[in-house]
Amino acid sequence: MSRVSRRSFLKLGGAGVAAGAASLAPAAALARGQARNPGATTLPYPRKTVGKARSLPENQAVSFNYPDELSPCAVIRMGYPVPGGVGPHGDIVAYSTLCAHMGCPLSYDPKSRDFKCPCHFSVFDSEKKGQMVTGQATENLPRIRLEYDKKTDTVTAVGVDGLIYGRQANIL
Ligand code: FES
Repeated sequence: MSRVSRRSFLKLGGAGVAAGAASLAPAAALARGQARNPGATTLPYPRKTVGKARSLPENQAVSFNYPDELSPCAVIRMGYPVPGGVGPHGDIVAYSTLCAHMGCPLSYDPKSRDFKCPCHFSVFDSEKKGQMVTGQATENLPRIRLEYDKKTDTVTAVGVDGLIYGRQANIL
């Protein structure tokens, strides 16, 4: 039996095989999701730890990425309960920070507690599940679904409500 070195394997097209395997990963994930939930047509969302609830600063947007590294988001501890808020006080919410109009990066205004777009001036309300307040956007801001674990004080991202700008599906 002849042995093939790693270098020879790659020269012979192992990289192509590896790339092919990587491109099959979403299909495999979809098949796993369908096995758990027959009829499902979307990929399952990953679970990603966002942080400890008590260590999140009040009324400041803390950046993270979800459901993948190409999707910027922000989590905010409002300091009082808000619709859809999680955590010990029901005050933690998170959103995509790509504008729902054309994908410009949004900035959080702690005075108005809105997300504002510098491109065409859309405004989204962080206290009302990302509702579009004014501007060119016609959609609300995609909201990151969060879960809170009381025992560990951990906030975890578990899904997205709404389509992230520029995507045909939130999970690529
Ligand atoms: S990209 Fe934000 S309003 Fe146009």
